[in-house]
Formats: sequence, structure tokens, C-alpha cells
Amino acid sequence: MFNPSKFAVSLDRKGEEPIYRQLIRYVRAQIESGELPAGTRLPASRDLAKQLNISRISVVNAYAELRAQGFLSAHAGRGTFIAGDTPGAANGSSSAHAPETPTTPDRSIREMMRMARKPGVISFSQGSPPTDFFPVRHLRDAINTVLDRDGARALGYEVAEGYMPLRAAVRDYVSALGIRCSPDQVLITGGTQQALDLVVQALLSENDILVTENPTYLGMIDIARTRRVQIHGINLDENGIRLDMLENFILDHHPKLIYVMPTFQNPTGSVMPLHRRRQLINLAAEYKIPVLEDAVYHELRFEGEALPPLKALDEDSVVIHASGFTKMMLPGIRIGYLISDSAHYERLVRVKQAADIATSGLNQRAMHLMLERGVMAQQLERNNRELAHRRDVALAAAARFLPPGSKWNLPQGGLYLWAQLPKSGPTAAELYVSAVHAGVSYAIGSVFYTNSCGSHRIRLNYGAFKPADIEEGFKRLGRAWRELACDYADMEKSPLL
Ligand SMILES: Cc1ncc(COP(=O)(O)O)c(C=O)c1O
Repeated sequence: MFNPSKFAVSLDRKGEEPIYRQLIRYVRAQIESGELPAGTRLPASRDLAKQLNISRISVVNAYAELRAQGFLSAHAGRGTFIAGDTPGAANGSSSAHAPETPTTPDRSIREMMRMARKPGVISFSQGSPPTDFFPVRHLRDAINTVLDRDGARALGYEVAEGYMPLRAAVRDYVSALGIRCSPDQVLITGGTQQALDLVVQALLSENDILVTENPTYLGMIDIARTRRVQIHGINLDENGIRLDMLENFILDHHPKLIYVMPTFQNPTGSVMPLHRRRQLINLAAEYKIPVLEDAVYHELRFEGEALPPLKALDEDSVVIHASGFTKMMLPGIRIGYLISDSAHYERLVRVKQAADIATSGLNQRAMHLMLERGVMAQQLERNNRELAHRRDVALAAAARFLPPGSKWNLPQGGLYLWAQLPKSGPTAAELYVSAVHAGVSYAIGSVFYTNSCGSHRIRLNYGAFKPADIEEGFKRLGRAWRELACDYADMEKSPLL
């Protein structure tokens, strides 16, 4: 029987090694030394967390990891025990055969992507469009044509503003969405991500305030942190950002920039209706605060009526429009753009030049040729049809496999399902390590909030997978949740023996 006073782990709270890993090391050492023999019942996660003065998620993740490594077993209704035939006890070695240990979920995109890249994991966590949609053959043809046509000219430094024929092609493309501009207002960027970063750098100084939707795009939270800008999120209702709250915030805090995703907001998938778009522009114009519109998902619509981007409604020149050909065509070629009026344009170009001189001239030329050849229009039509199908498969799989009491949105476009797990069960962060061990990952919802809300929220990129994998991924997720919820309920109920 487990004696809690024996659990005298000494933790290095300031060290590099995450607490949950230290706990794993400790439990394994105790097992190997015979201090914790097979059949010993471990304390409930809450009790152990309290006793060690650490967060409960550290204990939950350590238990999940030890279970996956075969050191612990969980029995519904009874609790968590040292497994009968532990790997360490059997061969005397503590680490040689242990599977690779995923790290504790981290707020950064890179960490999530790293975990999700484990072989065999169906990774719903990333923001990538489906790789099976990428127009590889068209890109190869375009690059070959560009090199035959332009030779070394395609390989030198491009001007910072971008390759003029591509800027003109962007002007033509956005004019079909209702945006009136000249190529001189188009700045080609290294993806939409760089477009957002350039605007923050050009318009804000350290400690200035950026106001956005809550939840919002994680990449923008990262930008704000690295540029040392304060970021504040305003809640959304079914029509997008709450303008009453936004106005109060403006009056109290004088933000320097409003950042929004009016169409297929990431992560919620929400779409701002026309009247709210107009009201937002009026509000921004009244207080003279620029609005950064992120339209990267605008064209990934497979249902519902298309709405004009904010920039198409912008009579007061308060909107800077950012988007890219990444989600629509190819993320890896890194072509995005900004459309801005002259008030900010020159400064944006200077920041762009300082950042990377210019976006690759070869990639810009290849993208230009693909636009001229109509590749994007073809792609969008086919991709959106397929995305609608994948959305339907995801909705059916969610209904079948997600735990009872879960809720999710009904996306009309974009790549993501935004789901809420039952509050009575594990949080999204607590479930993460178990889910990865079960072979599925998702984006932990709380990372998208500026104030750490959304503990039971998850974002699932169903769009990136073929139907059979979508089903399998949801199935694994449901299984991981049930297993953990079972322990979770047991741990809640049963005191130490
Ligand atoms: C809302 C939003 N904006 C910008 C980006 C960055 O896109 P890009 O690949 O064009 O840099 C992403 C990528 O996930 C996104 O979701």
C-alpha cells in the first residue's frame, strides 16, 4: 500500500527540466529500487499535487506518460497502480526501451508542431492546409518557365516592395473581392505572418497596446510578445468582436492597433456579418485607430454568402489588409501581401527591407505565373469542395466520438473545428499527452486566449486530413479522453488508501 509520506520527491523548481519529468524520473527510480512494488496504488492527482505543491497538470501528465511507458496501470473505478510487470523492473534498465517522451504542452507554435510531428500521430494541431492539395506540378512548371525566361534576373535581390507584375496581379485579384487599390499600395511579404509582424513593428512601439479578438490567432500573440507590445483580447459574440466592449477599452486604454479576422476567425471559425464590419470601421475611424484585417482564410469558403473584406468597405482609409497565397495554395513558398494607404506604406517598406531585404524573387515570379495561368482559381474550387466534404466527415466523427456534453461550431469555411470538451472531465492541456500517446494531437484552446481562458477548448484542423484519417483521429481522441476521464473521476472520488 502506498505511504504518502514516502513520496518525498525533491523537485528542482528553478531548473530546466519540467516538473512532470522530474516526477516521472522519481517514480521510475522508486519502482526500480523496489520502494514502489507492483500493485501499489498511487495518490489521486489532486492530492499529490497538493502534497508536492505543484500544479495538478504536472501530475496528470506524469501519470499519463508513465502509463504509456507501461509503468502504471489505471483501473476504472479503482485508481492508478504500479503495473505488475513494469518495463524497468523486468530488465533492470530505466530508460533504454522507453518510448520518446513528449514534453509538456508549451504555448509556442514551434513546440506544438514538434510534438505533432511524431510519426504516426494524426496531427489536428497545425494550421497547415492539406498537403495533398499542394499544386506541386504547377509549381515545378512555373519555376522552370521563370528560370528559362528570366535566368539570373530571377535570382538576384528583388526590390523591397515586391516584383511589380506580382503586385499588379495582387491588385487584380483583390479587386475581384471589392478592394480598390493600385499596385503601389501592395507590399509583398514573406507570408501573412510577416505581413502582421511588419505592421506591428511599423505602427507600434514597445509597451503600446494592440487590441484583438479573444480568442485570437496564436501567431499574433507570439508577435506581440516578441515585439514587447501589450495585447488585449475582447470577447466575441456570435457576430464577432463585441463593439461595446471594444469602445470601452479604447476609451480607457487608447490602443494603437485593432487586429481582427473578420472571415473564418482563427480559432473560432466565426464570420463577422456586414453590419458589424461597417460598425467596426466607423468606430475605428471615429477614434482614428488603424485596423489590421487578416484575411488569410477569406477564400476558403464552402458554404454561405461571401462577404466583402473590411478593406473593400473602407472609405476612411483606416484598414490595412493582410493576406497571402499560403492557405489557398502553398504555405511553403511564403508569399503574402499587405495593402495599405500611403500614410503607412513607406514605413512598412522600410521595416520590410530591414527584416529581410525582399521576399524571394524566384518565388514571387513563380507565384505570379501561377496566378496568370489560373492555377489558384482551379485550386480554390476543387479544394473548397473537398474541404466541405472533410468538414462533414469531421462533424459526423465529432458527434460519434467526442465525449457526451462536448460542443463544437459548424464551420462554413476555413480548416478548423473549434470544440469544447465537457467541463466535468480533464482540461485540454491535461488530455494532451495522453492524446499524443493515443496517436492524435490538437491545438490546446487556451493558447489562443490573451487571458488563459478556454481550458476545455480544442482546435482541430480537420481540413488537413483525408476522411479515413479524420475518423480515426477523432476515434483516438475519444478513446484518450475516456481513459483519462475514467482515471480523473477515480482520482476525484477516491482518497488515499
Ligand atoms: C489567422 C492567421 N493569420 C496568419 C497566418 C500565417 O499564415 P502564412 O502562412 O500566410 O504566414 C495564419 C497561419 O496559421 C493564420 O491562421
